[in-house]
Amino acid sequence: MMKKKEKSAAQVSEHAALIRCPICGGEMHVETLASLVCSNSHAFDFSKQGYVNMLNKPVTTQYDQTLFENRRDFILESGFYSRMHGVVVDIIHHLGTDDMTVLDAGSGEGSHMERILAGVEGKHLGFGIDIAKEGILMAAKNYPDSIWFVGDLANLPLKDSSCDVILNILSPANYSEFSRVIKPDGVVIKVVPQSGYLGELREALYRDTDKAEYDNAGTVSLFEENFEVLERVQVKEKVMLDRAALANLIHMSPLAWNHEAGELDDFISEERPVTIDLEILVGRSAISV
Ligand SMILES: C[S@@+](CC[C@H](N)C(=O)[O-])C[C@H]1O[C@@H](n2cnc3c(N)ncnc32)[C@H](O)[C@@H]1O
Ligand SMILES: [Zn+2]
Repeated sequence: MMKKKEKSAAQVSEHAALIRCPICGGEMHVETLASLVCSNSHAFDFSKQGYVNMLNKPVTTQYDQTLFENRRDFILESGFYSRMHGVVVDIIHHLGTDDMTVLDAGSGEGSHMERILAGVEGKHLGFGIDIAKEGILMAAKNYPDSIWFVGDLANLPLKDSSCDVILNILSPANYSEFSRVIKPDGVVIKVVPQSGYLGELREALYRDTDKAEYDNAGTVSLFEENFEVLERVQVKEKVMLDRAALANLIHMSPLAWNHEAGELDDFISEERPVTIDLEILVGRSAISV
């Protein structure tokens, strides 16, 4: 039986035409079901779990394994993001293509893309890229049907015009790279937090200080400068979260960093409604207009 690593390598080999070397931009191919190698001999090994680390040098991030485990449980079990996933699935359906290449840029541990691809009809290829190794390692273990790279948004290991859809969910963006890898008729779907997002948690943490609100005006206008905006959808509702979901929430959120253990005991002591307030921006490459 093939090991996880070899299965991934075989799958990547089928799609190697979409991948480019992050060092020189050259063509890549899979050698001995063990590494991705470019025409200038830059080589990147498959890990035991099946992902490839495409960073030129190691990066340490504040996102660790515990945070990603809490994100996964929260995304899969709380129902908090179900409506957002539904809206994104509909947007992708409207593209009406059977066989799409989807990139999740800043994928974390991959559960958003997994849920979204599971909802879209047809057979689609998913690439997930994140700079945090702990997230990608978990993604490769849990979702072996997609291709997972540790990599930098600012230097995507994908060829020009290779993607039909770019997902960019609650993560930083790099619009020149997104413009380069998106197909002329592809779409970028960016999910950004709005002022009410997790308001109850922010109030519990910061009371009335300025930190209590997200301000996303800059994020939205930068998106508009780079893409022709086809659609903007707001997902805003209060979702009842049980104690397990609340515990996941406080451990998955950068908001709760730098707070003492115990400070949020009250917040998670009984079920409560928490606000989701997201804007989904759908953009098409401005060059194609
Ligand atoms: C708030 S998390 C969101 C992760 C995931 N989309 C989710 O919603 O669970 C932001 C993610 O962006 C990633 N990130 C930050 N800078 C990045 C970069 N330059 N390249 C790739 N990923 C990056 C982080 O590692 C982190 O996983
Ligand atoms: Zn190279």
